[in-house]
Amino acid sequence: MYSVQLYGVEIDRTQTDSVQMGRADRCCVQGGTRKLDGGSLGGGSMGSDKVGSVEQGGDHYFTANPASESSLRPFDVLLAGREYRLTTASGVFSSGKLDDGTRVLLKHTPAAPTTGDLLDLGCGWGPIALSLALSSPDARVWAVDVNDRALDLVRRNAATLGLDNVRAVRPEEVPAEVRFATIWSNPPIRVGKQVLHELMLSWLPRLQPDSSAWLVVQKNLGSDSLQRWLGEALPAEFTVLRAEISKGYRVLEVRRLAEGHDPG
Ligand SMILES: C[S@@+](CC[C@H](N)C(=O)[O-])C[C@H]1O[C@@H](n2cnc3c(N)ncnc32)[C@H](O)[C@@H]1O
Repeated sequence: MYSVQLYGVEIDRTQTDSVQMGRADRCCVQGGTRKLDGGSLGGGSMGSDKVGSVEQGGDHYFTANPASESSLRPFDVLLAGREYRLTTASGVFSSGKLDDGTRVLLKHTPAAPTTGDLLDLGCGWGPIALSLALSSPDARVWAVDVNDRALDLVRRNAATLGLDNVRAVRPEEVPAEVRFATIWSNPPIRVGKQVLHELMLSWLPRLQPDSSAWLVVQKNLGSDSLQRWLGEALPAEFTVLRAEISKGYRVLEVRRLAEGHDPG
């Protein structure tokens, strides 16, 4: 057992975790602009993303390869107010169920724009991207992850739901000129502060003016200091608010003010 500090919070990790974190081979923060060799690709809220809870059959949630047909399995989940039977596999975050933090985000975030480009940053098997695509059928939803197995599941699940407005892609596959009408994310806190900060500074500035990003972060994993850091690190036209507190999670709203609006 060893511990790491995330936003001033000490977290215990197992040796298994450290071996697997070291096994992750590449982390592309965004758009091919920066690659981190040997970086950790983990994600998520410790409550439900402890290594033991997601590791099955030797897989881990940042395993990069799509799952074999034989390891796919069905599960039932409520998305956008309806229950669906979707497909999952080991080796992705919160495999086969809605993560508690994701549930908080989906419940408390105001309706997404109905058109434009919407981003789910760190999509996993796709609960956020699929919910956005169901609720905003005329929008294009970018489901972005570094885990190819997760992306494969998103594509399968989008096809099951008859959704043709989901693009499940790696970060570098999102065209550089795309600007987002909203960003929703249960971000990969466990990649560590530096990588997380780079991820935030890569994607949040791609919000269109007069639009918001919504991030869910567990309080115990440093939501308050992430909020403070975002407030300091982002340019003046951004504001950062705690929009919701629920079940140990915080939903942060990062808003890009309209052009010409004086940030004061
Ligand atoms: C906390 S999980 C959330 C997954 C999913 N959105 C959900 O709510 O169940 C964070 C996700 O971020 C992904 N991730 C890690 N590093 C990333 C990066 N540099 N760019 C994009 N996604 C990343 C992980 O693979 C993981 O699927």
